[in-house]
This record gives sequence, C-alpha cells and structure tokens, in this order.
Amino acid sequence: MRVLGIETSCDETAVCLIDAQGTAADFSYAVLGNALYSQAALHAQYGGVFPNLAKREHAKNLVPLLEDALRQAEVLKVASSPTDVAAIRPLKELLSREEELFKALTAHVLRYEKPAVDAIAVTVGPGLEPALWVGINFAKALSQLWGTPIVAVNHMEGHVIMPMMEHSHIPKNVRMSGRMREFGWPVLSLLISGGHTELVLSESFGKYKRIGETRDDAAGEAFDKVARLMELPYPGGPEISRLATEARSKNIEAGFKFTRPMLKETNHDFSFSGLKNAVRLQVEKMQPLDEEKKMAIAREFEDCVAETLIEKTMRAADEYGARTLVVGGGVSANTHIRELLAERVAHDGIVEIVLAPSADLATDNALMIALAGYFHAANESFTAADAIVATGNLRLETNQE
Ligand code: KG4
Ligand code: ZN
Repeated sequence: MRVLGIETSCDETAVCLIDAQGTAADFSYAVLGNALYSQAALHAQYGGVFPNLAKREHAKNLVPLLEDALRQAEVLKVASSPTDVAAIRPLKELLSREEELFKALTAHVLRYEKPAVDAIAVTVGPGLEPALWVGINFAKALSQLWGTPIVAVNHMEGHVIMPMMEHSHIPKNVRMSGRMREFGWPVLSLLISGGHTELVLSESFGKYKRIGETRDDAAGEAFDKVARLMELPYPGGPEISRLATEARSKNIEAGFKFTRPMLKETNHDFSFSGLKNAVRLQVEKMQPLDEEKKMAIAREFEDCVAETLIEKTMRAADEYGARTLVVGGGVSANTHIRELLAERVAHDGIVEIVLAPSADLATDNALMIALAGYFHAANESFTAADAIVATGNLRLETNQE
C-alpha cells in the first residue's frame, strides 16, 4: 500500500511517500520519496516558532516538496491528456485562505498525472493550529483531486512508531527501507519534544494510555529557553548539547548542582520551569558569561534533565511492568540522554530493550506520519474529509479497556 505522509505541525514542512505491507512482525516498508524543508533558521530571529510565519512557509513549500517526493519516487508524470479544469474549481473554496497554495496546486494538477497513492496521512495535532490547517487543507485538496482517502494522524503517534523501525539504506538510489524491530509489549514511551514531555503506556499497537506528563515546560522547551538565557540560537537543544559535550571532553565542571525536579514525588509527572528559573539565577550570578561558563551551565543542565527523565521513566517502567522502552521526539536526538538511557537499561534490567530513533529521524518528519498513517489505513480507519479538523492540544490516548 502506498501512503503519502504530510507533516506541518510546527516548523518543518515535510512530504513522504512510502510503500508498506504487513501489520505486525511481518511489517516492512520502502521510502519511495522523502522531502523536508526546515524553517528553523527563519524562526531563529524570533527565538522560537512564529506561527503565522510557519503557516505562510508551509503554504509556499508544500507543492514543491510534493513534487520533489513524487519525482524521487518516479511517479511525477506529465499528463498525456489535458486535466479537466472543472475538477479544480472546488479547491478554490477549500484553499481560500491559502491563495498561494491554491495557485501552486492548480499549476501542479494541470501539468501532472494523478500518481499511484492509496492513502494520504496528515498530521491533525498536536501542534500549532494555523500550521496544522495548511497541511490538512492540502491533504483534503489532494484527496478530492485524486479520489484518495485520508488518515488523520496524531503527531505523537508518529514519534512513538518511528523508533520501532530498523532501517537499511540502499546506497545506489539513496532509498531507505525498513521493518519492525523485535520487541515485547507492554511498551512504555518517553516522548520528549519541543511541545511535549509524556510517558505513554501501550499494551498493543494503537492503544495509548498517558501515565505522566509535564506540569509546565516541555523538555525541548526547557532546552530552547535555557539556550535563549545564554544567548544561543534557536533551536536550543543541539546548541546546549554541543556545549555540554565540549565541557565533558575538556573536564569543565560547574561546581554547582541544579535540583533534580519531581524526583521526591511518586507520580510520573515532570516539571522543568523551576529548573529553567534556577538556570536563570545562575546565569545572572555568573555574568559576564564566557564560552567556558556556558559550557559548565550547559553540562549541568543537560545532566539534570537527562537524570530526571531517565529516573522517572525507569520507575514507571518498573511499576507498569514494561518490557520495552521507546524514546521519541526531537529531544531523543540528544546523545547524552540516549547514552545514559542505554547504560541504565543495560544495568538494571527492568526492561528488555530500549528503542530510540536514528538521530536524523528523531525530529519532525513526514516518514513517521506516513508510517503511523499506514497502520490505520491497513485497518481501514479513514476519516471523512469534512470531519477533519486541526486540534492544537490533541492527546495521545485511547480507551484501553
Ligand atoms: O519533535 P520536534 O522536532 O518538534 C516538536 O514536535 O516539538 O522537537 C523539537 C525540539 C526542540 O525543542 C529542540 O531544541 C529539541 O527538540 N532538540 C534537542 C536536540 N535536537 C532537537 N534537544 C536536546 N538535544 C538535541 N540534540
Ligand atoms: Zn514532534
């Protein structure tokens, strides 16, 4: 089954076409085309994601990215007979708020044939609603033009599924293929991104129960805000990580310790805003900041976040008898967190295996949306276009009973 994934929830615009089969251990897929444009550099000047800019950029980039992905998949074919202009008319209303997208899509449809696509998977939340709507309206337009059904995908489910895959690259055509890794249920997922910090328990595919979450800032948000306090560019995660790694390699120690938040509590929640304030006070105390002081703060901050996340995750894994630990979301690209987690899992034997996405697939992409969408499409759980709406605070939770 060929699934086209579309992701526009935040500052990455991405389109990916996969061909997949199987639904469990027999599952495998091939990436036929994968195109991504990161707006991070554009948003850097605002120190964070600016929603209206994100929306405009998505609208501008979706059609070129679609064509890029279809070209890679060798299914971008110039139409042999002229397309019926009447087919385009209904799109005008659908894309009335995205005039540029409407024009680009019209030009695309008039020029190219309908590609072989069985389902369109689109992120419907959580994320920035204006940004989500662009992707959703684009998916609705394609669905109408091609007569292809839509799967509404929860972005966080994409972050859960991505680490469950193992991949191989086929060097000749740079195409990637993958299959399901071997692991046992229940699965406990630690989802750490710019907007979320959650612990989600799954008894099987598509079943999710949230057992813990952040009470204030998300882990990625803490990285981004702390980076800002030290006048480092957005996104802050990779910057902090770079400084912390350098501090470790040069043996630069902070000489102070931030309190590990929420460790005294027996619930599975997190909190990072107190830590952010502790960093702020420390930054003020250490003025003026030179590179070495930044390294020291970054190292202690990263240690604090890593130890807190891992300690609380292992406690939850123990309590719920999880056999597999999944770590996903942009912050799971962090090398220190991955290494500490792998050490801890090997050391205390609470879970059998920890699954982390390859670092380049930890942050937002459309492959994870196509994969999550595929599992729903294989179950025929499509959503009528009229019923699809953007939900900024969409939860990843299903009734497990
Ligand atoms: O999943 P993602 O791409 O977008 C959201 O859904 O939020 O996550 C982005 C977040 C940002 O806060 C970014 O600073 C953080 O992931 N991040 C990292 C690293 N790479 C990205 N945080 C820590 N270490 C990293 N290496
Ligand atoms: Zn994400």
